[in-house]
Amino acid sequence: MAESNDKLPAASLVAEIHENQFGGDPRVFLAPGRVNLIGEHTDYAGGFVMPAAIDFGTFASISARRDGRIEIWSQNFKEGVTYGANEVPQKRTQHWSDYPLGVLWALRKEGVEVPAFSMVLHGNVPLGAGLSSSASVEVASALALLHLADAKMERTAIAKLCQKAENAYVGASCGIMDQFIACQGAEDHALLLDCRSLEFRLAPIPRHVGLVIANTMVKHSIAGGEYGTRRAEVEEGTAILREHRPEIALLRDATPEDLERWGSEMPDNVMRRCRHIITENLRTVAAADALASGNLKRLGDLMAAAHVSYRDDFEASCEEADIMVAAAQSLPGLIGARLTGGGFGGCTVNVVEEEVAARFAEQLREEYQAATGIQAEIYRCHASAGAHAVEKSG
Ligand code: GLA
Repeated sequence: MAESNDKLPAASLVAEIHENQFGGDPRVFLAPGRVNLIGEHTDYAGGFVMPAAIDFGTFASISARRDGRIEIWSQNFKEGVTYGANEVPQKRTQHWSDYPLGVLWALRKEGVEVPAFSMVLHGNVPLGAGLSSSASVEVASALALLHLADAKMERTAIAKLCQKAENAYVGASCGIMDQFIACQGAEDHALLLDCRSLEFRLAPIPRHVGLVIANTMVKHSIAGGEYGTRRAEVEEGTAILREHRPEIALLRDATPEDLERWGSEMPDNVMRRCRHIITENLRTVAAADALASGNLKRLGDLMAAAHVSYRDDFEASCEEADIMVAAAQSLPGLIGARLTGGGFGGCTVNVVEEEVAARFAEQLREEYQAATGIQAEIYRCHASAGAHAVEKSG
């Protein structure tokens, strides 16, 4: 079956590619992609999210150079870029290298002096699938560049730095979720994050519970228009509520009662966007409690309600994702299913009973193909650790 197709390459292979390409004695770092179990488009509204890091990720290897140049090779694109260390573009060129160069730019803005270097990037997070390939490239690059600069930075500061690189350099107005989980993920755990205070708690995923990620194969892009349109709608609604309650700095501060009272002053689409976020925050905290107390039935119900809200109020789903979720809901072993990530395509996340996960994945693929004619990629995943250095021999 089309399961977890591209295995994560071995760190030793990445080191070998680096040595062949550049020589040197590279250090290798790995940053994971992520799947969000619940809490969508809540991060930039200061709300709650509950992602898990996954065992798909990006390696960044790095070594110093003596010729004052910077060279970055993408093994995925089989292509490199090279610049004089002081000639790096100050803004995006709409190329994959925007991600590592954006991190370099953000580090330099922080006063971190990064010497000339060679870098290899090599990963297996599917691109444009809503699994945060970008954040994994950014965070892996950040660890590598910090190592070379011999600079220390707290994990949360690294996440914020990478978000800044993506917002201000790459030009995608994402929130903090993806970079944060890539930095702070923990094996066998989901993470409930308060996106305003950046406080978090881990919720253990029981051993008998598996994660099956189903790629609708409909590409999504947060640099594309829809993500930005949704953010603007959310800000429009927040401003209306703020006129009545000035303490509403972010939509996170608003309650269902606020929306009940003043939602009629908003255009209908804006009111529904706000209703999604206000209710999603409540669902996300409840889902973390359900996971922590082992109440998987409740977790599944909350995920189902989250999908309906994302589809109907936020209008960020697509026909294929709705078909994928409906198919999952008819299969034995499902605990909860919903569209994950920025929306408008990408993947669904399925929390399933591990012992039937293989069969579940197979049936899901068949049902989706029968309904859409599309051959989905299905990835069996494991909640994994956040970014870290890896041994070259690994
Ligand atoms: C993308 C963004 C995140 C978040 C999600 C939606 O993944 O990068 O910051 O807004 O969409 O929850």
